[in-house]
Amino acid sequence: MSSVVVVGTQWGDEGKGKIVDILTGHADVIVRFQGGNNAGHTLVVGGEKFIFHLIPSGILYEDKLCLIGNGVVLDPAVLIEELERLKDKGMDISTKRLRISQNAHIIMPYHRALDYAKEASKSHGKKIGTTGRGIGPCYEDKASRCGIRMADLVDSNVFREKLEENIREKNFILTEFLKASPLDAGAIYNEYMGYAERLVNFMDNISIVVDEARKAGKNILFEGAQGAQLDIDHGTYPFVTSSNTIAGSACTGTGIGPSKIDAVVGVCKAYTTRVGAGPFPTELNDDIGARLQKKGVEFGATTGRRRRCGWLDGVVLQDAVRLNGLDYLAITKLDVLSGIDPIKICTSYEVNGHRRLAMPVNINEIEAATPVYQGCKGWHEELKGARSLDDMPKAALDYIKTIEEIAGIPTMLVSVGPSREETILVKNPFERS
Ligand code: GDP
Ligand code: IMO
Ligand code: MG
Repeated sequence: MSSVVVVGTQWGDEGKGKIVDILTGHADVIVRFQGGNNAGHTLVVGGEKFIFHLIPSGILYEDKLCLIGNGVVLDPAVLIEELERLKDKGMDISTKRLRISQNAHIIMPYHRALDYAKEASKSHGKKIGTTGRGIGPCYEDKASRCGIRMADLVDSNVFREKLEENIREKNFILTEFLKASPLDAGAIYNEYMGYAERLVNFMDNISIVVDEARKAGKNILFEGAQGAQLDIDHGTYPFVTSSNTIAGSACTGTGIGPSKIDAVVGVCKAYTTRVGAGPFPTELNDDIGARLQKKGVEFGATTGRRRRCGWLDGVVLQDAVRLNGLDYLAITKLDVLSGIDPIKICTSYEVNGHRRLAMPVNINEIEAATPVYQGCKGWHEELKGARSLDDMPKAALDYIKTIEEIAGIPTMLVSVGPSREETILVKNPFERS
């Protein structure tokens, strides 16, 4: 029995969905614990592509239990749509296979409206470039203690009362401050009562479900969303998301204690991408950046936006190792680097004449950071066919070794393509060494 957390080490989109799908083969229970449908996790199985925003990426295995913890902000329409899409593909997800926390906060239409209107009201340079899914405003309400939770859907009177209280305040802000249109409480009530009917049987106390699974000797896999540099506390604030994206969030976002986590895996793309606004020291606005974007097919899985691309950033990686207590790396998209020679890795920043080994806290300092690079020899062979480390050219193995040296931890998996088969599993993190 083991509990393993998988998190993103960069600005999201590292390939967490694929890694979770692979590790689900060794797990019994898969849990999402933070974020919401700002996440877009892609799996390619049997030549077919699946993108999950809310449902854990373990759902394609029929005998596994998937859980959505209290730390997730849940848009019921999106969840129902994901369930419907799976049904269209012949997977009718029963309440035995998916359980949702009663404590999870619900994304309401006014959260989306506020997300859009707040972004629209910001001047150029101040826009965060959110996914527009209402994530920030929903977490704001959670912290303000006026949020509506899944359990509130069960009692229509409680739901109506909370909705009416909220809508008075939100409509005031929307119309008077943000000059946006007001929303109608009656229409929202009817819409959400429909969702309640569909979802009520999925609700559970996820803390207890996880605890019982653990006591029954099950392997539990925690699926992070976003990445360490998007963490509300530790990321490149204010250009971050509104939740803690680091491994500790697996505990608060499901209701288990930190002593029950056995290993933490950090997913690290072999280069760096960022979607949305905010500082990105190793960004490449040149042919190499364009090449990474094209070969890596770097478009956001949620919004379709073009992802910004750059060299691997060792400062970002070392932050992720420390913040998450990483035990292992899963290196993804190594295949995308074939044909680029030399390859560079940033090992520190030069900020106003000082050498920095950690991401500065002040946004002006991050923007002033000049990356200091180490050159690595590239390779020309395509890697997609590699099924063991022995199939790799020496330069690719040396690149992996350099990443391990910078991170100070070993690699448990190397991914050389989007599909399940294009994977080299070096070490199963559920097996204690
Ligand atoms: P996530 O948000 O961390 O789950 O990552 P996304 O799904 O948003 O983005 C990762 C993208 O890279 C997806 O399109 C994956 O199918 C793809 N991908 C994952 N691993 C690899 C890999 O090793 N090589 C290539 N070429 N693509 C990969
Ligand atoms: P996955 O799980 C990449 C980014 C947005 C924006 C910022 C805030 O697929 O890796 P939000 O809507 O959360 O308020 O937006 O965070 N962002 C992501 N970027 N991958 C994600 O998730 C992201 N989720 C949010 O682009 O810059
Ligand atoms: Mg993604």
